[in-house]
Amino acid sequence: MNKFAIILAAGKGTRMKSLRSDVSKVSFPILGRPMVRYVLEALKPLGMDEIVTVVGFGGEMTKSAVENSSEVVWQKEQKGTGHAVMMASPILEGKEGMTIICCGDTPLLTDKTLSALLSSHETNHNDLTILTSILDHPQGYGRIVKKHGRVERIVEQKDCTPKEAEIKEVNAGVYVFDNAELFKDLKKLTPNNAAGEYYLTDVIAMFVEAGKKVSTFSVADVNETMGVNDRYQLSKAAKIIRHRINKALMLSGVSIEDPDTTYISPNSVVGQDTIVRPNTYILDHSKVGSGNVIGPNTYIERSEIGDDNIIDSCHLTDVKIGNKTTLGPYFRARKNVVIKDGAHVGNFNEFKNIEFGEGSKCAHLSYLGDATIGKEVNIGCGSIIANYDGVNKFSSTVGDHAFIGSGTILVSPVNVGENGFTAAGSTINHDVPAHDMAIARARQENKEGYADVFHAKAMDKKENK
Ligand code: UD1
Ligand code: CA
Repeated sequence: MNKFAIILAAGKGTRMKSLRSDVSKVSFPILGRPMVRYVLEALKPLGMDEIVTVVGFGGEMTKSAVENSSEVVWQKEQKGTGHAVMMASPILEGKEGMTIICCGDTPLLTDKTLSALLSSHETNHNDLTILTSILDHPQGYGRIVKKHGRVERIVEQKDCTPKEAEIKEVNAGVYVFDNAELFKDLKKLTPNNAAGEYYLTDVIAMFVEAGKKVSTFSVADVNETMGVNDRYQLSKAAKIIRHRINKALMLSGVSIEDPDTTYISPNSVVGQDTIVRPNTYILDHSKVGSGNVIGPNTYIERSEIGDDNIIDSCHLTDVKIGNKTTLGPYFRARKNVVIKDGAHVGNFNEFKNIEFGEGSKCAHLSYLGDATIGKEVNIGCGSIIANYDGVNKFSSTVGDHAFIGSGTILVSPVNVGENGFTAAGSTINHDVPAHDMAIARARQENKEGYADVFHAKAMDKKENK
């Protein structure tokens, strides 16, 4: 049978209380991934024939989050969930098959649950199956009204009588419909309710009245159906997703010292025997190999880390790290930094667009920008590659085994050859040939006994003030 999916994602998200009109609720991110994308990822393994996402408020942003794996239709005015589904009619109306409808604001749904829901719908030959949860605090959700165990209708929170408000079985906002029947009944919806909207949930009573087979399917883990309507719920959903990811990693052989303060995105990977220490972020398609110690207090984004590195209190974006390096504490690398095997970059250094060779060292307090550094190089404390003249950026190179003395300024573009040496405190603006030493500082002069003379004069000045 054909399987279609519709994701409702056009709503404004009034309860998010945002001032921005370009941001839809469903594009609020959890670990860098828009909420609606989680729903789409949960649908993917089910092999749907067509997926249609309904976008509207902040729709351009929603569209960009889904368009590589979903068709997009617009709901220009948000007149309710039933009206939103109608927007998919040019694509789906009249087609034979079943249609799963999900809300873009339920990021905790899993493919396992959605697939169990579809199977239940098929094996029971239902015309409609509603995913429900039993909640101790059902406030805010549509309630499933049943008579003699059979579904009668769904009543929204705003339209509940006090008696109906006590019902604990709630609508998760996920349904499987017979596609052709769904689009027939949508046409009959009216906005006669407290919100003045076309409620998709009103279609349920129409199905029941027409004698179609309507059942519920209860989710095992009630967390899965949590809808995110405000920023507090967003934080709760984010925490659950975070723990799911961390748990899966721990069970695959990663040590996570404090899962409460570890943030690993769903599209990042971490290898076995890596230890992730507290307050660490690994985000946006990062790949971390095995046997590393990452953190505490480390932020890694869009980066590739090899094996057996020690990375303590670092901020790394768009970097590639080899194996067996030691980095930090307090090292920042950004924009295309490559650090090769066995290198050491110590405290308070910043690298930008740097290739840093095998076994090279930069132990403290340096800025290196736009340069290629060979292997076994030593960059002395407080060195700077001055790569910018206020208008243009320039590059430099430092050859293998070179020694850059403490406090050297390499004024780019400049090249230091292999085994080249710069004396501490030098400002280098000409190339240093291989094996040469460059000293570029004023020659020192000593004045015999003058320290005492100078001191006595200073004391005099103070007393005569
Ligand atoms: C909806 C259900 C409720 C259910 C709950 C589960 C209805 C009428 N109510 O309520 O029974 O318990 O979800 O989380 O369906 N949307 C549109 N266009 C619109 C309105 C909404 O695309 O005109 C989208 C929203 O972006 C959102 C989803 O539909 O992703 C649900 O809308 P929302 O306003 O959050 O509905 P709830 O009040 O949570
Ligand atoms: Ca909702």
